[in-house]
Amino acid sequence: MGRTHLRSLLSEDEHRFAAFSRSACGLLIDWSKEKLDREAWDALLELVHERGIMAARDAMLRGDPINATEGRAVLHTALRGGHWAPTEVQRDIAAEQTRFLSFSDSVRNGAITASDGQPFSDVVNIGIGGSDLGPAMAVRALTPFCDGPRLHFISNVDGAHAADVLAGLDPARTLVLIASKTFTTLETLTNAETVRAWLAAKLDEVSVGRHLAALSTNLEATKAFGIDAAYVFGFWDYVGGRYSLWSAIGLPLALAIGSARFRAFLAAAHEMDRHFAETSADGNLPIILALVGVWRRNGLGLVGHAVIPYEERLARFPAYLQQLDMESNGKRVTLDGTTVSDATGMLVFGEPGTNAQHSFFQLFHQGHDPVGLDILVGRRVVGEAVPGRGAVHHTHLVANALAQTRALALGRTLEETKAEMAASGVDPSEIDRLAPHRTFPGDRPSTTILYDRLDPETLGTLIALYEHKVFVESVLWNINAFDQWGVELGKQLARQITPALSDAARADDFDPSTRGLIAALKTD
Ligand code: F6P
Repeated sequence: MGRTHLRSLLSEDEHRFAAFSRSACGLLIDWSKEKLDREAWDALLELVHERGIMAARDAMLRGDPINATEGRAVLHTALRGGHWAPTEVQRDIAAEQTRFLSFSDSVRNGAITASDGQPFSDVVNIGIGGSDLGPAMAVRALTPFCDGPRLHFISNVDGAHAADVLAGLDPARTLVLIASKTFTTLETLTNAETVRAWLAAKLDEVSVGRHLAALSTNLEATKAFGIDAAYVFGFWDYVGGRYSLWSAIGLPLALAIGSARFRAFLAAAHEMDRHFAETSADGNLPIILALVGVWRRNGLGLVGHAVIPYEERLARFPAYLQQLDMESNGKRVTLDGTTVSDATGMLVFGEPGTNAQHSFFQLFHQGHDPVGLDILVGRRVVGEAVPGRGAVHHTHLVANALAQTRALALGRTLEETKAEMAASGVDPSEIDRLAPHRTFPGDRPSTTILYDRLDPETLGTLIALYEHKVFVESVLWNINAFDQWGVELGKQLARQITPALSDAARADDFDPSTRGLIAALKTD
């Protein structure tokens, strides 16, 4: 395929869109602007059988311990109604879901109040990684559906984060959720102590307890932290942090949009699970996206994967996908511990379009290394600032999304550039000087994902789509998508550096660079 330009692929096959697009669960995926032909696609589809994707999928859905390095099952699909899971798992999940959703309803309708009997106006979620990115992304995505208390998120151990979020809030009106799967995460526990002190500065000790809830699998630690068991909502070790939005970690979202919409969000994700479980590879959207991903990485040798939602409210979706994808597939050994033979994982990043067009798209169009793009576009808008203006904005938005995928694929040759410049009267010597700078190589792949409108159902569908896509890629690469040992070493070294910041002698064994930086940090 290296010698075949996307221009030729698109011009030679009138039926390319029909061949390389599929619809399901309210989504349309068009990968006809990917750099592959029918032969390449057929070869990729064969990988599905060769690498045992369907068997791996079934093993995950029924709860086999596929997270082998941690000895755990992977059952986030059971949180949204996965009937493939063991009965006792489904029973536990249903019971805890009822608890946290009825808590959410009671906060929203005023049955559960602040310590002074008044309703909570604000909720602060303290968490990081999977205990922050999912709820924060989803609350922002579903802004028009948020009709409960206002949600705020504190994640960074940088005290500025807590300071800035708390500055506008009244402790007497604020409910604090401490979200941590392990309840041992340094950032979250540090922020939790700070926020508890902030509450205690205004409320007495008993009242503080009525303003604190916890979302965790570690019930002993939440008890030790002093949180009332009635305000603790649990989940289980078969739910990975980056897959936990569907569990009690989703409580901030439920508080924002209400339990009925939260259940609709879960139900839509379950529909995607069923699609993944029941559809043959040829029409299976997560499998299609995974094959495109592996083709980009191993077939074309791309490293960058940009996710560009043409939807301002999905501003945090790329950040959410960064954890989902890079913490899952950023691995260098296979399941049996040997070094991978093919490149794995991609650098995921993104910003909403059209903003991104005015910052880093320059590199996409003319940079040295091509990047693969996912372009997300809604057919309809939700809400408008001024009646009638929504359609105007949306037309520009969609036109830009499509224009970018065309420009990336087709480019503009040197001859075309020169001809255009000549037609607009540019001096011939200027044409020779500037035309190379104004030429676009094209041949840069993108996949477009269309959805109807951004609501709880669409969001649930999109997240489940990407979750399964990342999983299928991991099976194709024979790596474990569900552990994250790569985050450990830095945490361990931070524990050694912390005391050295106050006692220089503790830095004696460090490398000269770190010793020098510690000394510089301590200089007045
Ligand atoms: O450090 C990475 C990580 O373990 C993520 O996998 C996880 O989502 C995040 O930290 C937060 O962990 P916890 O929910 O246990 O506080």
